Amino acid sequence: MKTVNIGLIGGGFMGRTHSNAYRKVNAFFKLGYRPVLKTFCDVNESKAKTFAENWGYESHETDWRKLLARKDIDLIDICVPNMAHREIAIAAAEAGKMLICEKPLAINTAEAEQMVSAVEKAKVANMVMFNYRRVPAITLARQLVDEGRIGRPFHYRATYLQDWTISTDVPQGGDALWRLDAKVAGSGVTGDLLAHSIDTAEWLNGPIQRVTAATETFIKQRKHVESGKVEEVKIDDACMFLAIFANGSMGTFESTRYARGRKNFNTFELNGEAGSVYFDLEDPQYLQYFKYKDPKSGDKTEGHLTGWQKIHVTNAEHPYMDKWWVPGCTIGYEHTFINALADFFTGLETGKPAQPDFRCGLRTQKVCDAVLESARTGKWIDIA
Ligand SMILES: NC(=O)c1ccc[n+]([C@@H]2O[C@H](COP(=O)([O-])OP(=O)(O)OC[C@H]3O[C@@H](n4cnc5c(N)ncnc54)[C@H](O)[C@@H]3O)[C@@H](O)[C@H]2O)c1
Repeated sequence: MKTVNIGLIGGGFMGRTHSNAYRKVNAFFKLGYRPVLKTFCDVNESKAKTFAENWGYESHETDWRKLLARKDIDLIDICVPNMAHREIAIAAAEAGKMLICEKPLAINTAEAEQMVSAVEKAKVANMVMFNYRRVPAITLARQLVDEGRIGRPFHYRATYLQDWTISTDVPQGGDALWRLDAKVAGSGVTGDLLAHSIDTAEWLNGPIQRVTAATETFIKQRKHVESGKVEEVKIDDACMFLAIFANGSMGTFESTRYARGRKNFNTFELNGEAGSVYFDLEDPQYLQYFKYKDPKSGDKTEGHLTGWQKIHVTNAEHPYMDKWWVPGCTIGYEHTFINALADFFTGLETGKPAQPDFRCGLRTQKVCDAVLESARTGKWIDIA
């Protein structure tokens, strides 16, 4: 078995989910590669030390450049806020390191394009952590599409709703709250939440061709943690957009952090001629599926049973589930990262790179930028 020495940067929410996944992936998946938690890096020295000790990294650093200079680091995992992705990724690719980068790939399309050029020039393996593709129920939805069970698609409907920024007291800047600071995040809910919805939508229903959008910033000024001053808020607090997919179907997308009671309400529904699927991340073990029975088929015996099926996605036949527990026993949020890493290492082994890679992440970035441009100009925007 080959080892892959990991240098992970950023010890917040995602640093924890990725570290947990590296520790567990070989225990559940039979792989030709084994990640080794070599070095952890965070700008905050005390966090770097305690995080490294807690998760079992061999050493820690506070300057990510030192990781790139080390010959014993094979893969750089970027778990820092969005505005730092580009510089680290390009330098890491130039140093010949494999890359896993958190979403969104960058803060805009221009940056994402530079990142794609860097990894493709260096020919290093790369993946963007759109982990929701690895929710077994979402992977099952993709399987149903591939099996032709949805048929000609008509509508795609996505929501991604949260409620944690309703209070005017929530400041901008600093750990986690950098999401409210446009300089660091790039955008608000569009890059943070809708990037996930767009990645899932394009994976299930193909490319989005055109969008028209509106955004709103409900609270115009907030205290900034770093300056201590009240500053203008420049992110989108909420965004809604309409989309036309290349396959002719119509999409609606809505995201906000002002939906009281909604915590991580990430849903989608795809309606086709032959059937529909519906998913809700707050109920992630289930995929709902409606199978249409054509009355002209002549089979009138089962009409009274027509209706939505709520599939408990825990059978060994379901995606990823033969690696986990027995039927009926669920997996959760953290397992999506383990499944993603398993796919990444399998890609190294087979030579068929795991998706979404950086080029695929660039697609999502283009859609996000088109959404924001449309919200600014009030026009429909075509996506190249
Ligand atoms: N896949 C998902 O579902 C998902 C969920 C949450 C966040 N994210 C993404 O993950 C990334 C990180 O988000 P988070 O929630 O973990 O943030 P966080 O604020 O919880 O943690 C970020 C960490 O990075 C450190 N840091 C910042 N700049 C650094 C630098 N230059 N060098 C080293 N360390 C640095 C900070 O000290 C902090 O510990 C973001 O791009 C975010 O969009 C993805």
